[in-house]
Amino acid sequence: MTETISATPPLGAPPDRDTLLEVRDLRTYFRVLDGTVPAVDGVSFSVGRGKTIGIVGESGSGKSVTALTIMRLLDIPPAEIGAESEVWFDGREILRIPLNVMRKVRGKDMAMIFQEPLTSLNPVFTIGEQIAEQVRLHLKTSGREATDRSIEALRLVGIPSPESRIKQFPHEMSGGMRQRVMIAMALSCEPKLIIADEPTTALDVTIQAQILELLKAIQQRTGSALMLITHDLGVVAEMVDHVVVMYAGQVVEQGTVEEVLLDPRAPYTMGLLESIPSVEKRGGRLSVIKGVVPSPFNLPPACRFEPRCPYAWDLCHEEAPPLSRVGSADRLARCHLHTSAGDSRRGAALQQHIDAMRVGGTIRDAPA
Ligand SMILES: Nc1ncnc2c1ncn2[C@@H]1O[C@H](COP(=O)(O)OP(=O)(O)OP(=O)(O)O)[C@@H](O)[C@H]1O
Ligand code: SF4
Ligand SMILES: [Mg+2]
Repeated sequence: MTETISATPPLGAPPDRDTLLEVRDLRTYFRVLDGTVPAVDGVSFSVGRGKTIGIVGESGSGKSVTALTIMRLLDIPPAEIGAESEVWFDGREILRIPLNVMRKVRGKDMAMIFQEPLTSLNPVFTIGEQIAEQVRLHLKTSGREATDRSIEALRLVGIPSPESRIKQFPHEMSGGMRQRVMIAMALSCEPKLIIADEPTTALDVTIQAQILELLKAIQQRTGSALMLITHDLGVVAEMVDHVVVMYAGQVVEQGTVEEVLLDPRAPYTMGLLESIPSVEKRGGRLSVIKGVVPSPFNLPPACRFEPRCPYAWDLCHEEAPPLSRVGSADRLARCHLHTSAGDSRRGAALQQHIDAMRVGGTIRDAPA
């Protein structure tokens, strides 16, 4: 891994003190044999202290690569990060700090919970050893204190008899318990930011609900901010304050959870919301977004959603739509229909569609 980004231009100003994480123009590319994968292509967003942000989008949209770039967990090369990209965390720019300094930030001030706990836990160490090692490393505590903290962290995530559980190996636990262990590990140093990448996808629905409740309760107790990556808009409705919708490496919409789920502005977000099964739609045809996410080697020339968009017209094939304001400063959507270039007839049809989706909607019954 390289220590820092080469040839960096001067940094922008730090964000205000209430902002814990600010990602600016993040670009992460992979140079592979077949060409270049623009996995994350100019992504910007911020997370306030103690707040929860949801990152949503179909498979391959760049959610995990965004998280891994922020955590500095990608190998450079083959990954390459844009020279203009900046990630500000707790008052400092962290893409450019030496890796040994970043290792101290990681685990202590920001921690990540991965989708599949079995692949993230080390099979040859007991879970107690793994949590205690993390605590010893970051908090410079004695062995006894680290063990006590490990037991406390396991108790906090609802693992019964943590004193005896710390002696177990990962394979001796169920999927739900292992995910709790991962959360306990992430929380053991009381991080300011938790990044959870599809933390419940591998679990059944009941355990999923328990884990999400747990994350919420811990967040309230410790005041950590949470960046939650998920496919599940129901989870977004329950958990987050602010939503970022990604498509093919770019942000296509962002705003508060109410704005995005009840008043979507980008045709892609509308398609995502309409493809959620619900009791009301039972018996009717479920709307799905036609087509598939484009290959990163063969992206559409202008709007990346154009081949799948019911509103597309000539301009969408010729000019890339900017991410433009559709309300307050943080309310953004990427679609020509919201710019002065927009086609008024299609704009009116889109507005009708938005209005129809909004009728009778509440934040709780939008997703099933
Ligand atoms: N190490 C890598 N080398 C090359 N391409 C990669 C690598 N990691 C990710 N990609 C590509 O980057 C793009 C974004 O991937 P990413 O894993 O971020 O998607 P995602 O939104 O997290 O999807 P999912 O919902 O399936 O987890 C994809 O096209 C993926 O194939
Ligand atoms: S710019 Fe055109 S193709 Fe892209 S989302 Fe808007 S209407 Fe659809
Ligand atoms: Mg992913």
